[in-house]
Amino acid sequence: MTLPEVSGSEARGPLAGGPRDLTPREFEVFRELVHARSGITLGPEKRPMLYARLARRLRALGLETFTDYQRFLEERDATGEELRRLINAVTTNKTDFFREAHHFRYLAEQWVSALRARAARTGLRSARIWSAACSSGEEAYTIAVTLLEALGGAAGWDVKIIATDLDTEVLAQAQAAVYQAARVEPVPAPLLSRYFLRGRGANAGLVKLRPEVQSLITFRQLNFMEEPWPIRGPLDVIFCRNALIYFDRPTQRRILEGFLARLAPDGVLFLGHSESIHGLVEGLRHVGNTIYRRVATSRPAAG
Ligand SMILES: C[S@@+](CC[C@H](N)C(=O)[O-])C[C@H]1O[C@@H](n2cnc3c(N)ncnc32)[C@H](O)[C@@H]1O
Repeated sequence: MTLPEVSGSEARGPLAGGPRDLTPREFEVFRELVHARSGITLGPEKRPMLYARLARRLRALGLETFTDYQRFLEERDATGEELRRLINAVTTNKTDFFREAHHFRYLAEQWVSALRARAARTGLRSARIWSAACSSGEEAYTIAVTLLEALGGAAGWDVKIIATDLDTEVLAQAQAAVYQAARVEPVPAPLLSRYFLRGRGANAGLVKLRPEVQSLITFRQLNFMEEPWPIRGPLDVIFCRNALIYFDRPTQRRILEGFLARLAPDGVLFLGHSESIHGLVEGLRHVGNTIYRRVATSRPAAG
């Protein structure tokens, strides 16, 4: 399992004026807690990262040691609010608009052609898409913009995108649909003017997705560790990119099985650039770089 690099400041360890060191015993305690609640697996090399991220919580609560923090969680967190903050602090939320752009080319070209062919054959003009582990929403908005562009607008189509993440803070950002202008640099200029509003006055330097893009997406919290997932199949497309890398193989397998059970017979799964289904699940055929299509079986879709 690999995790993204931690930044230089995170790797330094105990901060001046910060809490005392995270001892090996304390690291074990928090590592197990994080794993049990989120599935995220932290190797021993992640101790400085865990220290840096949790030290902020200790400072906010005025606590000196990680054992004090452990006690706080056990005895003074009846609502679970602090546990939620802890989990939010340990997730890695890196994302971008049009990240791994070949996925969106596939969606606009091959997948939309197949959707149109199906519509001509069956009269069914609907699409159900899940952006699983969507972080702050860039992935879901990129899907929506790509489809609006490829379909020539949503009129006459019933397109619904559900976008979920464990982390409630990034979900709030996603829901707000507001980004720093620098974040939309990967968005081609014509799409920027068609699907984004530019802030003026007090909002200068910000952009916001237009309502017609927002209206296609529903954001909701979902923790892969808490089953059954409140997501009904059959889904035409699932994006789950750059999230499986945080989990051990049995957890990856369980999550992939959950996707497979919800994918329509010819549904498509997009994974992140360093992820694969190899040796984990069957019933998916490789159709492009980290793109898989469900092969028809008699397996019923969950829902
Ligand atoms: C690196 S981001 C990926 C964002 C986006 N999919 C992309 O590729 O740009 C990984 C996301 O997985 C989410 N995540 C981690 N553990 C999770 C879990 N147990 N259930 C759901 N989401 C989880 C994190 O909160 C984080 O936002």
